[in-house]
Amino acid sequence: MNASDKMEKIVSLAKRRGFVFQGSEIYGGLAGVYDYGPNGVELLNNLKRLWWKANVYDKENYYGLDSGMFKHPRVWEASGHTSGFSDPLAECRECNTRIRVDKELAALGVVADEKMSEADINTLFDANRDKIVCPKCKARNFSPAKAFNLLVKSNLGDFTSEGGEPVYLPGEACQGIYLNYKNVVDSMSPKLPFGIAQIGKAFRNEISPRNFLFRTREMEQADTQLFIKPNQNKAAFEQIKQDRLNWYISIGIKPENLRFKEHDNLVFYAAAAWDIEYNFPNLGFDELEGIHDRTNYDLSQHMEWSGVDLTYLDSETNERYVPWILETSVGMGRMFLAVLADAYTEEEMDGGTRTVLKLHKDLAPYRAAVSPLLRNKPELVEKAREVFRLLKNEFGNIAWDDNGNIGKRYRRQDEIGTPHCIVIDFDTLGENPAHQDTVTVRDRDTGTQERVSLAELVEYIK
Ligand code: GAP
Repeated sequence: MNASDKMEKIVSLAKRRGFVFQGSEIYGGLAGVYDYGPNGVELLNNLKRLWWKANVYDKENYYGLDSGMFKHPRVWEASGHTSGFSDPLAECRECNTRIRVDKELAALGVVADEKMSEADINTLFDANRDKIVCPKCKARNFSPAKAFNLLVKSNLGDFTSEGGEPVYLPGEACQGIYLNYKNVVDSMSPKLPFGIAQIGKAFRNEISPRNFLFRTREMEQADTQLFIKPNQNKAAFEQIKQDRLNWYISIGIKPENLRFKEHDNLVFYAAAAWDIEYNFPNLGFDELEGIHDRTNYDLSQHMEWSGVDLTYLDSETNERYVPWILETSVGMGRMFLAVLADAYTEEEMDGGTRTVLKLHKDLAPYRAAVSPLLRNKPELVEKAREVFRLLKNEFGNIAWDDNGNIGKRYRRQDEIGTPHCIVIDFDTLGENPAHQDTVTVRDRDTGTQERVSLAELVEYIK
């Protein structure tokens, strides 16, 4: 299976099996927006739960947050987003299609990104124009590159529709953390170093949303911001990098599909910026998560623009300083896509080819599926429903599946990654007294079945 086939198969499975749908599909769709279906929202919530556990509960010095989406217009000026949050775009003079010049250059192997100045990117663009063709009409006749701001405007509070001072949707979720840094210090009295973790929505007017969940216009970002003493950044940064990579491995992603990449260009205030890259189908290794040493830039900017003192009083040394910030930031959609791609497997089993999502058991939409061997035997159905209710009370995410023959049910559950299929048969009812009150439990990855007593079933599934 080649990489682009694999991506197509993942997109198709995601729709067919209720993981991800195109946003507003019945109206022809809205580019760059996706909806998570019944199986998708379970996988997404499981990812968020494991992320939260690793970044809040398993740590002693991290606090959670859920900040509002709309923010005072000054926030995006202080953060630099109104002036500097842009992509360099050029327009085809023949058909008006817009291209992202940094991405076109990068595809040619020229080191370029959206952080470069308009002048620098145009120098590189001019040197490579003959190699860049319009994706629509194939002409090579483009305007110069111009910075196109990615912030999405709202009309909140604009009752005259004159647009005055727009309130933007968040271009990055982390600003909500910086705005609440002082509230957390005042209400929780944390000692430095301490962190704030949040999963929040962000919106970007991406010119070419593409590659399914990889580049979308609406996204959720899972962020941690560690507030540290100035210049104590190096060792902590290395530790965070390693912890984040190890976390992906702990949720089942194959280590060979992950790697670190240092940024070629740093924004002027940053001391370090690395990506954790994942080997995405049809994209190859590309950014999954960003890990950034933001120095004291964010709090200094908000201190200057708001006029509020955001310094930290170190009770041990009696010093006051603006903390530095080490950030981790990952788009939940990218994480979801990486997990789906990594789990997607086609393999031979029982003389046929099966599609199976080999998801970590804590990520699978359903922990187990329960079936009566035959759906037209009331005594089997009654017992199976008893087992179903027992497990549902314990785990919640248990599927009931009595459609088609057992082989078909197994294949259907394989496709959505259900780790265990439990079947209630006549032996469960005592036809074979040695197996009374036992059920068969089939393992998704090996296809093998075991008989497990009902008394031990919950522990077995756990
Ligand atoms: N606060 C830092 C920040 O926003 P970023 O590198 O722009 O940094 C962080 O974004 C992460 O958010 C990326 O590593 C990626 O996982 C995700 N992300 C960014 N833009 C995205 C988009 N258009 N669609 C989906 N995910 C995106």
